[in-house]
Amino acid sequence: MSLTLSLLLLIAISQPCVSDLTAVNDDYWESRKLMFILAGQSNMAGRGGVNENKWDHVIPTECGPHPSILRLNASLQWVPATEPLHADIDVRRTCGVGPGMSFANWIREPVKEGGWRLIGLVPCAVGGTRIQEWSRGSVLYQQMIGRTKAALTSGGKIGAVLWYQGESDTVKHEDAYSYRARLEKLIFDLRTDLHLPHLLFIQVALASGEGPYVKIVREAQKGIRLPNVKYVDASGLKLERDHLHLTTQSQVQLGIMLAGSYLNSGINGIY
Ligand SMILES: *[C@@H]1O[C@H](CO)[C@@H](O)[C@H](O)[C@H]1NC(C)=O
Repeated sequence: MSLTLSLLLLIAISQPCVSDLTAVNDDYWESRKLMFILAGQSNMAGRGGVNENKWDHVIPTECGPHPSILRLNASLQWVPATEPLHADIDVRRTCGVGPGMSFANWIREPVKEGGWRLIGLVPCAVGGTRIQEWSRGSVLYQQMIGRTKAALTSGGKIGAVLWYQGESDTVKHEDAYSYRARLEKLIFDLRTDLHLPHLLFIQVALASGEGPYVKIVREAQKGIRLPNVKYVDASGLKLERDHLHLTTQSQVQLGIMLAGSYLNSGINGIY
């Protein structure tokens, strides 16, 4: 056999392997996915630009889509991430801009330098929910665990949980005073059930509330003394006319604050 012929044969024989190789590469790149769980209530789901149940569709450049940013949709499929991130999750209300996209865009470059190829956002937040509705065994808790496990099946790692919740726990005295213990329990259960004992948990200290006990919940949030739990403070960020929800620009700022907290944690993607 001439050299040319054997070469041709070799190429012909190896044809199927070429696609196998591509598959291996896809799996490899899929495994270089750093994921973030977005959980809590309306200000995490995003109400930026929503007034009288209508979203103004204004998307600042910081919140624009990017080929490396995906989100896990309600059918557990990875799709390109676009605002509103929670549109098919927090389905009973009108969603607008939240902190997720500006967070992802802000960490994109440093995360890439760290060897990660994709950012995967796992939206789980639902408006109007008290922390007890997130306790182990509840629908919301199960959903969060289920979505996180589904997200992990295609490879990759969880970078952090971003948690913005507590506005609904400012109405009753008892809820506000129980907040710290309930949040600590939630973090403990989540880490146990996901088998990620060191999972980074970044919370947002409240900017607003539905009742009079905002200060007590904020103190509870700041008082958490578990390892790898951090907070950023949303106090002072501009609110929509309802005095409850962060404006689009505030959400952009919050996303950047969360990104700063994540990048400063020094545990970039070890889970
Ligand atoms: C999720 O994404 C898949 C793939 O693009 C699509 O077929 C499905 O309808 C989406 N689910 C929802 C709830 O949007």
